[in-house]
Amino acid sequence: MKKSPQYSVKQKTIHWLTAILVFIIIVFSLMRTSVAQYVGGMGTLFTIHKSFGVMIFFITLWRIYVIIKQGVPEVLPKDERLQRIVSKSVQGILYLLLLILPLSGYLMSSRPLNFLGIISIPAIEMPNTFYGFFHSVHIITAYALIALIALHMFAALYHHFWVKDKVLKSMLPERWFD
Ligand code: HEM
Ligand code: HEM
Repeated sequence: MKKSPQYSVKQKTIHWLTAILVFIIIVFSLMRTSVAQYVGGMGTLFTIHKSFGVMIFFITLWRIYVIIKQGVPEVLPKDERLQRIVSKSVQGILYLLLLILPLSGYLMSSRPLNFLGIISIPAIEMPNTFYGFFHSVHIITAYALIALIALHMFAALYHHFWVKDKVLKSMLPERWFD
């Protein structure tokens, strides 16, 4: 049987690690009042949110470097031009959002960023209107990310269960399909 095109182990690890971190941040933010009591209060909840956000920023820079170095597998047929354009655009916007969100999160506060309770990253001094601006950017891009992830997940599942092609398999461990 012809093997499905595969992302490298490094790319798969980065993809699923990011997905888990993003998922935790989003659930923690949108359900903060119910989740806070289980993680030790609102302060800890936001330390986790911000620290995971910082990790995502650097993991995404690494991810872009890995993609430039290793390239990506051809998962969609060459003649599916529209699908390829939509898929690449969504993926490109996802990278952008994964950089803008942590940056705007950092820039919207006048207080130092406490990374994992160990490292204090000083805030950048600026007029209050700028903090307000980055706060709006953070909220708008957060909802854009949630919408795009929903679309991205739906597309992956649609390919797997309806089209029955190899798109989802390309991002899952190869040994699952031997
Ligand atoms: C990929 C990374 C990140 C994602 C996906 C993300 C997502 C979110 C979401 C969904 C919200 C809730 C929006 C709402 O209340 O309607 C939020 C709020 C917030 N985020 Fe992030 N965030 C990220 C990184 C960061 C970072 C790095 C920081 C700070 C250094 C940060 C600080 C905050 C703060 C303080 C709020 C509360 C804002 C408010 O309620 O007014 N975030 N974020
Ligand atoms: C259950 C959740 C998810 C599923 C089933 C899934 C599935 C997939 C699949 C099958 C691909 C390869 C598609 C192709 O190359 O055309 C892919 C790539 C990608 N996914 Fe996801 N994904 C999920 C969650 C996420 C999340 C949460 C993010 C980001 C916030 C994300 C960002 C990306 C990006 C940027 C790519 C492009 C390749 C790469 O950089 O690794 N995915 N995903």
